[in-house]
Amino acid sequence: MDRLIVPQGTFPLRRYPRQTRDPLRAWDAADEYLLQHLFEEGLPGSGPLLIANDAFGALTVPLARHRPWMLSDSFLAHRGTEANLADCALPPESVRLLTSLEAPEGLCDLVLIKIPKSLALLEDQLFRLRPHLHPGTRIIGAGMAKAIHTSTLALFERILGPTTTSLARKKARLIFSSPDPALDPGTSPFPLRFRLEETGDLIVSHAGVFSRERLDIGTRFFLDHLPASSEEQTIVDLGCGNGVLGVTAARRNPRAHLVFTDESFMAVASAEENFRAAFGERQAQFRVTDALAGIPRGSADLILNNPPFHQENVVGDQIAWRMFREAKEVLREGGELRVVGNRHLGYHVKLKRLFGNCTVVAGNAKFVVLKTRR
Ligand SMILES: C[S@@+](CC[C@H](N)C(=O)[O-])C[C@H]1O[C@@H](n2cnc3c(N)ncnc32)[C@H](O)[C@@H]1O
Repeated sequence: MDRLIVPQGTFPLRRYPRQTRDPLRAWDAADEYLLQHLFEEGLPGSGPLLIANDAFGALTVPLARHRPWMLSDSFLAHRGTEANLADCALPPESVRLLTSLEAPEGLCDLVLIKIPKSLALLEDQLFRLRPHLHPGTRIIGAGMAKAIHTSTLALFERILGPTTTSLARKKARLIFSSPDPALDPGTSPFPLRFRLEETGDLIVSHAGVFSRERLDIGTRFFLDHLPASSEEQTIVDLGCGNGVLGVTAARRNPRAHLVFTDESFMAVASAEENFRAAFGERQAQFRVTDALAGIPRGSADLILNNPPFHQENVVGDQIAWRMFREAKEVLREGGELRVVGNRHLGYHVKLKRLFGNCTVVAGNAKFVVLKTRR
């Protein structure tokens, strides 16, 4: 097991979900740089500490004795941090987990922000954090230099106050920002809204949600090829984002029970708002979870999926694979998994290997919609 060795101690850390022989580390040079900096500079007083966007607890676990708040939009980050705390024999209550829709109580003395891939998510977080800062709060951002742009620093300047950066060390940089109480940054532009032409539904998306400004072109193509039926059935929108697939499927399948899943708290909250706006009290489930974890085996008639191709900065089809494998477990005998993907991703090969069958429902120059039956 990889060990993070920093001035605060030595910590065995793993990514989440856990895999045997995971070639990737659970931390990066920006985590090391920030922990080294905190050791050299010291933590201010014993006041409240907030850590945002820590992927697997690489900051939270070494700083657990300060009883930090750990804020993240990712269910995997929450579970990964808990698992790493347990491996380091640290009690779970040493950290207070917050979703990106929640806020710490009161004011923070120190805020550590790992720079997320989504600038929109960062912007929303800075707006949400601002009321929890006082003039003496120290705010330190950390990220790999390639993820810190002029636009990133401009956000800190515009929403919080004067901002400077450190020299790069092992291709990582730190950002230092001091809250300016006199600054008036206006209000957060999030959540965003767009109208779905076909149904007229107004789709709301919290910051950081996939394709929040307009319908993604792959999703648009998928919408033209969703099945319609008057049967009672269970339809799962797997990796639902703002829930646009599930909401549209619910319109075309009026007696269907919908289940929405995503590992992003903001995605599931958006899907729930969109479903409720369209259908009021119609029964549905909204689950923040990893792929289909917790959904009973053999319970679904139809699973819809537009798979992700990255987990934060790690690109690849391993999450799609995992989603397909879990879909096979959760479908009833004869149930269908319907997937949209870029042609070049070759999902049909994977689905055929896994299910023994796969047919093309529709295709255009860029995308294919595929279906497979259990
Ligand atoms: C390509 S987007 C599709 C979103 C939406 N279905 C659409 O078509 O607009 C993929 C979604 O999968 C979610 N996701 C990524 N990893 C996941 C995981 N391990 N479990 C559940 N959802 C995940 C992402 O948060 C994202 O919302």
